[in-house]
Amino acid sequence: MSGLPQSGTSAKRPKITAPAVVALKRKGEPITVVTAYDYPTARLADEAGVEILLVGDSVGTVVLGYDSTLPVTMADMLHHTKAVSRARTSALVVGDMPFMSYQASVEQAVMNAGRLVQEGGADAVKLEGGARVRDAAKRIVEAGIPVMGHLGLTPQSVLAFGGYKVQARGEADQEQLLADAKALEAAGCFALVLEGIPAKLGAHVSRELQIPTIGIGAGVQCDGQVLVTHDLLGLFYGHQPKFVRRYAELGDATRDAFTRYVADVKARRFPSDAESY
Ligand code: KIV
Repeated sequence: MSGLPQSGTSAKRPKITAPAVVALKRKGEPITVVTAYDYPTARLADEAGVEILLVGDSVGTVVLGYDSTLPVTMADMLHHTKAVSRARTSALVVGDMPFMSYQASVEQAVMNAGRLVQEGGADAVKLEGGARVRDAAKRIVEAGIPVMGHLGLTPQSVLAFGGYKVQARGEADQEQLLADAKALEAAGCFALVLEGIPAKLGAHVSRELQIPTIGIGAGVQCDGQVLVTHDLLGLFYGHQPKFVRRYAELGDATRDAFTRYVADVKARRFPSDAESY
């Protein structure tokens, strides 16, 4: 047992499956997704009622200190996916496929997706890209693994994009993005992340698809929303895109707690008699 109190609703929730996520779109109920990389945070998000815990390769930037997601490996993703899987009681755990774990061949893509499920305990996997990853997505789905797609500002393509810029502003790019979304739906993806695109396009793609869209910087009309947990909790001090809403300032609270601890130890105020044997 973790010692974390069971305070939220998730203890009573049924297990959320990929088809259950699709059903939420049919019911018109917005889908909640946050990233999670460790046991306690995953546990708290699940208890709070979050439907999908995404073990994002953003772990590279917000936890491991890299300046992009490109250095993140399968070993990193397995390590963090295992921790999150051990914590979940109800939420769907999606393991992100890191850079170069699915680009070289469809066979490698299927094997690495299988590892995230078999070793990591994920319920589904996510990969970035449109029609160019369609075959990989299709074969992973055929292997019995639910796949989430990811279009728009896909961080693993940062070198090709020349930076983190809003994507698909022009008409041709918007048509291409819609075609990519339809290709991923046809390949069997159960959901699609739309990142860093105009809100109107997010709304249009969401209307055109049967599967849910999960927006991050893609407007309120997407079928669900995802935020990186370290942004949401105020634990990340790097660049904050304008779509980030900080629901807490845990970074400030954490620094303050460490500062007071240092002061107490230096002044021999900690431990007190009551905290001693
Ligand atoms: O890695 C990640 O956290 C993601 C989300 C931003 C969608 O891919």
